[in-house]
Amino acid sequence: MAKVLIVYASDYGGAKKMAEVLAGGVDSVPGCQAILKTAEEAAAEDVTSADALVLGSAVHMASMHWKMKKFIDTVCGGLWMGDKINGKVGAVFACGSGYGNAGGGCELTMLAMLGNLAELGLILVTLPKNSPGYVKGGLHWGPYGRAHNEDLSPIEGGLPDERAAAARQHGVNVARVAAALAGKKLLG
Ligand SMILES: Cc1cc2nc3c(=O)[nH]c(=O)nc-3n(C[C@H](O)[C@H](O)[C@H](O)COP(=O)(O)O)c2cc1C
Repeated sequence: MAKVLIVYASDYGGAKKMAEVLAGGVDSVPGCQAILKTAEEAAAEDVTSADALVLGSAVHMASMHWKMKKFIDTVCGGLWMGDKINGKVGAVFACGSGYGNAGGGCELTMLAMLGNLAELGLILVTLPKNSPGYVKGGLHWGPYGRAHNEDLSPIEGGLPDERAAAARQHGVNVARVAAALAGKKLLG
């Protein structure tokens, strides 16, 4: 069984909803299981016992939520010092308001988290441009959600289908790679 740990930081539910949809994609792959934790809940054993680590954050001031940064620095930082998670699979997603239309910091948020996962020694899974939902809910780095429409009215009912499709596909892709690599010691 390949385990995919999804750690998210969400105040208003957007990133949480994306985490749940992504988990559905993971669970749809035979032999794979998603484990959902908030950035405050997730502990070192959760990370070491997983085959893949997916980080999802609300966009705050064009960067990740401080609770996600705290998780990375305090929980993952200790594992990095001990070279404990080299070669696991890593991926990211983000949810912003959508101000500025291009994502208003989603891209920077995902790149910041991907940079952290690279430093941790993970094998990164990104989002191919032919993924379902990519046009509305995808960037090369991963899927993104937005809490507001382009006219800044709130998006009712959470994640629209076309964005949910990108999040779900990301879960499928991460799970496939995690399953293929599970139990193998590939890096250093
Ligand atoms: C302190 C703060 C800073 C924010 N900065 C941004 C931003 O830079 N870009 C953006 O698109 N949205 C920004 N937002 C809006 C959130 O990204 C948006 O509310 C989103 O729904 C957060 O995800 P969540 O629903 O999982 O909490 C900010 C919100 C807060 C509270």
